[in-house]
Amino acid sequence: MTALREADAADAVFETHLPLAGRRQGKVRDVYSLPSEAGAAPRLLVVATDRISAFDVVMPTPVPGKGRLLTEISIGWFGFLRSLGIVGDHLVGTDVSGIAGLGDAERRMLAGRSMVCRAARVVQVECVARGYLAGSGWQEYLASGTACGVPLPAGLRQCDRLPEPIFTPATKAAEGHDENISFERMCDAVGGDLAARLRALTLRIYGAAAERARARGLILADTKFEFGFALDAGGEPTGELLLVDEVLTPDSSRYWPLAGYAPGKDQPSFDKQYLRNWLLAEVAAGRWRKEPPGPELPAEVLAETRRKYEEAARLLA
Ligand SMILES: Nc1ncnc2c1ncn2[C@@H]1O[C@H](COP(=O)(O)OP(=O)(O)OP(=O)(O)O)[C@@H](O)[C@H]1O
Ligand SMILES: [Mg+2]
Repeated sequence: MTALREADAADAVFETHLPLAGRRQGKVRDVYSLPSEAGAAPRLLVVATDRISAFDVVMPTPVPGKGRLLTEISIGWFGFLRSLGIVGDHLVGTDVSGIAGLGDAERRMLAGRSMVCRAARVVQVECVARGYLAGSGWQEYLASGTACGVPLPAGLRQCDRLPEPIFTPATKAAEGHDENISFERMCDAVGGDLAARLRALTLRIYGAAAERARARGLILADTKFEFGFALDAGGEPTGELLLVDEVLTPDSSRYWPLAGYAPGKDQPSFDKQYLRNWLLAEVAAGRWRKEPPGPELPAEVLAETRRKYEEAARLLA
């Protein structure tokens, strides 16, 4: 197992506090408003920190390099999706040299982990596509034979491929767990036309991405997208729908190695399974209760977790 160099750990970014307006903090990303020129639509600086969350708890120890790897993966996928021309996205660029008021050390810290984006009014529904039966989809299937209310054939095994990919929306909870909702509830929340459009987009993008991942030896079991409406210069939403946030990263997706894929059991994954297993051992030992604050992560757990993200970035490049 590769040990973490002290220099790596010192470079890790847990939280940023840049001299920019409108700071917001998600579980992983810090988001700022960028000063906009008169008459121009608003833009955001989206900074992927090295924070990692598991069981919806942000761990107190960052994983050095994770934010850069996530950004690299997202940008690669945005490029691929643009070539398909299915939907526009929020990515403008990665150059932070033109942002006024930042020091050299801040620019160095931001390099590789930042995206300049078009600001959007984000649709408050997470758009999830599932091609395989895992996670909360599998749990629901065991209980009721459905996944997010979608009836499925009997006799499916854990991690089985579904007859066809399904759309399983979820609420975007500000705190705590996202909750799976039925398509009907999504229609009530955002309107039937928009819900149908987002379902079609989600399934099309999932299909194209799953095919590309498969050619790289990975199964894209499921993934989550966020969409939003681009804002105009006055900060009002236009009718232009954009893919926002991160796309098709190991944080937003479940990737499995194609080699050795065998349904009927949990699959080894490139996402946080290694960290989750370590945390579950902490829970079993009575040292943690799946509530904030999370436990400090030892160096070998950080190193192995980073190795997983590095492997995903290498395979998806
Ligand atoms: N173009 C955009 N315009 C406005 N908000 C955006 C845009 N892109 C991303 N966001 C928002 O920025 C935040 C990014 O933070 P982060 O990715 O850490 O998300 P989170 O909501 O805490 O967790 P998760 O993505 O895991 O559900 C999210 O709230 C996301 O909706
Ligand atoms: Mg997010």
